[in-house]
Amino acid sequence: MNILVIGGNGFIGSHLVDLLLIKGHNIRVFDNSYEKYRKPLSNVDYRISNLENIPDLYEALLSIDIIFYLASSSVPSTSNIDIVSDIKKNLIPTLNLLNLAIKLGLKRIIYFSSGGAVYGEPSAAPINEDHALNPISSYGIIKVTNEMYFSLFQRIYGLRPLILRPSNPYGPRQGHYIAQGVISTFLRKAKLKEPLTVYGDGNSTKDYIYVKDLINLTYDLSMNNAVGVFNLGCGKGTKLNQIIELIEKITGNQLEVRYVDKQIYDVEHFILDISKAIQIIGDYSFTPLPIGILETWKWLNLK
Ligand SMILES: NC(=O)c1ccc[n+]([C@@H]2O[C@H](COP(=O)([O-])OP(=O)(O)OC[C@H]3O[C@@H](n4cnc5c(N)ncnc54)[C@H](O)[C@@H]3O)[C@@H](O)[C@H]2O)c1
Repeated sequence: MNILVIGGNGFIGSHLVDLLLIKGHNIRVFDNSYEKYRKPLSNVDYRISNLENIPDLYEALLSIDIIFYLASSSVPSTSNIDIVSDIKKNLIPTLNLLNLAIKLGLKRIIYFSSGGAVYGEPSAAPINEDHALNPISSYGIIKVTNEMYFSLFQRIYGLRPLILRPSNPYGPRQGHYIAQGVISTFLRKAKLKEPLTVYGDGNSTKDYIYVKDLINLTYDLSMNNAVGVFNLGCGKGTKLNQIIELIEKITGNQLEVRYVDKQIYDVEHFILDISKAIQIIGDYSFTPLPIGILETWKWLNLK
């Protein structure tokens, strides 16, 4: 199949491109920059441009069968700084993309929303897809709004959207250009022998998923023709202090940890209920945290 990966030069997108190539697809990447940690791949058709450039986006969509849409220029911590700009960069381009897709008769689009940002502080654990949506950052509000436009286009034009809500992915190549991901950040700090800053008391619980697992699940769901919203995590929670202990063991470094007040845009505890995805793709064996962290550490020390 001819597949367009928008944001394919980022952390998650680069792993998706790797798997799609292994599976034998023809890959075009639309991104506003090249990969930070690798040279361009010889068998990928790169279109380096900005999503706000509609003619370039139109060109990139020609002869495509499936779109994976991962580009996002903000993360929860940066999105509240300039909300109008966040809307211009992450909401309006989605509508332009949807309009172009419909014009070209393209119906299959896989969108990366966010499990951590759309639900807000959860009222249940684990959180299933029917949990109320109470985002606490502009980033989360835009993810929810984009999701709703995908559903609207499904209703009006017969779009077949697959909306993914990943939990906390980690792994090699994280930290593309705006830092997101505590495991990669702490491993970098361990490498530089710098102190770690923990927002809160370190008892916050998150659902960490190794990026290759996230991509395998994404691929299986997209090829199974799944439509609608799906949580993607490992379905288990780990405390931040446990992550720090693991990092100390794996790196052999005793870490200095500074605990400061928690941040207002960060959800304290969340574990995703992934049974909806598992029902479609069947049982999946997740990479254990010590192995995923070790792989990320090895990569950090190679680059
Ligand atoms: N990494 C996480 O912790 C996480 C968690 C949940 C959801 N997500 C979502 O998954 C998706 C991918 O995340 P990631 O961590 O790989 O992000 P990333 O920042 O590493 O990659 C995003 C890519 O999109 C590109 N991009 C951004 N704005 C663009 C624009 N206007 N035009 C063209 N290209 C543009 C960037 O250059 C980058 O290569 C994002 O939508 C993100 O919100 C990420």
